[in-house]
Amino acid sequence: MERIRVNLEMSRKDSYEIFIDEDFVGPGGLITKVQNHVDRYVIITDSNVNPLYGKMVTERFKQTAIPVDIVEIPAGESSKSLDTVFNVARQLIRLKVSRKSLLIALGGGVVGDVAGFVASIYMRSIPYIQIPTTLLAQVDSSVGGKTGVDLPEGKNLLGTFYQPKAVYIGLSFLKTLSEKDLANGLAEIIKYSIIGDHNLFEFLEQESDGIKKRKPSLMESLVGRSCKIKADIVEMDEKELGLRRILNFGHTLGHALEAASGYGLSHGEAVSIGMVGAANISHRLDYLNMASYQRIVDLIKHYHLPTKIPAGMETAQIMGFMATDKKAVGGQLHFVLIKKVGAPFVTPEIPSGVVVEAIEALQG
Ligand SMILES: NC(=O)c1ccc[n+]([C@@H]2O[C@H](COP(=O)([O-])OP(=O)(O)OC[C@H]3O[C@@H](n4cnc5c(N)ncnc54)[C@H](O)[C@@H]3O)[C@@H](O)[C@H]2O)c1
Repeated sequence: MERIRVNLEMSRKDSYEIFIDEDFVGPGGLITKVQNHVDRYVIITDSNVNPLYGKMVTERFKQTAIPVDIVEIPAGESSKSLDTVFNVARQLIRLKVSRKSLLIALGGGVVGDVAGFVASIYMRSIPYIQIPTTLLAQVDSSVGGKTGVDLPEGKNLLGTFYQPKAVYIGLSFLKTLSEKDLANGLAEIIKYSIIGDHNLFEFLEQESDGIKKRKPSLMESLVGRSCKIKADIVEMDEKELGLRRILNFGHTLGHALEAASGYGLSHGEAVSIGMVGAANISHRLDYLNMASYQRIVDLIKHYHLPTKIPAGMETAQIMGFMATDKKAVGGQLHFVLIKKVGAPFVTPEIPSGVVVEAIEALQG
């Protein structure tokens, strides 16, 4: 089992560990830190994960002789809403969940974001742990303490920073994941390699066949390295005041493409094209050489992720969505660019002509 500690500078009591193992092994002695004070567990999961893993995880927690309940939300992004928060909170009241209870987020990023948000506001906050079951949740959303729900006006507009007490990653959960959801996670891993780890980039280049087949030893290495990169960044900038913004590599254009496609493009697909866009801008501004740019494009292609903007999306429309995003981030559009693999930097306001040229270069 691999253990990665997330040390949060502001408050030692908020620091926690990520446990990575082939099978989900919790709770055992692992959660004694919180278990000592726990009067009941409530697992929050979704309608796809519950039939697959709800019973198994419930049984593991029952071994502690502390009562365990399960609350199910419908699978999918539409559950990231205040209505779901309201319904879950009312179910917790009915289950007599108190400030001594522990919430367990069992699922992908949607469950993690909703359960974390509920935990941060229910009775002025109660503890929670994450058991992420998608690759994206294992390498990204379960680590870092960002919680939240969407509003009709946009994604993740209501939320909190609220750290889990622990993260338990079971690699075997990945066996039942769809190809599309595997690719979503791989896009974020490719992002980590570009912003943070040249060795991981080479590993992704060399091991793509085995990774696509989900070979356990390769997945363990990928998830471990990715969590370490995210944990290191979160440790240095828990509240996203500076450095943590480099995690948005590929996301400025990616978010605009997601919105312009009416969410027909998945997040991983949009971020993949967005990463090519950011690398293309980096090349146009003479930060990144052509050979490195081409390696990035080739790596993304290796994983069957798109590198071109789908036909039918107009440049003006994409620029319009970026302008909306710009308002949402306080008037400045921050692009994350790279000087080479492993050397990202954040820059506000790059000439819009360069962005337009890059978008046009990516139109298929
Ligand atoms: N908090 C953060 O820092 C952060 C970071 C990145 C993304 N996010 C959020 O995460 C969400 C996306 O997460 P996601 O991609 O995990 O989506 P998701 O939670 O919707 O899961 C994707 C699908 O996979 C199913 N599923 C989950 N685990 C499975 C398994 N082991 N086997 C089979 N099916 C399984 C789910 O039911 C769902 O249908 C978005 O809402 C995004 O905003 C949050």
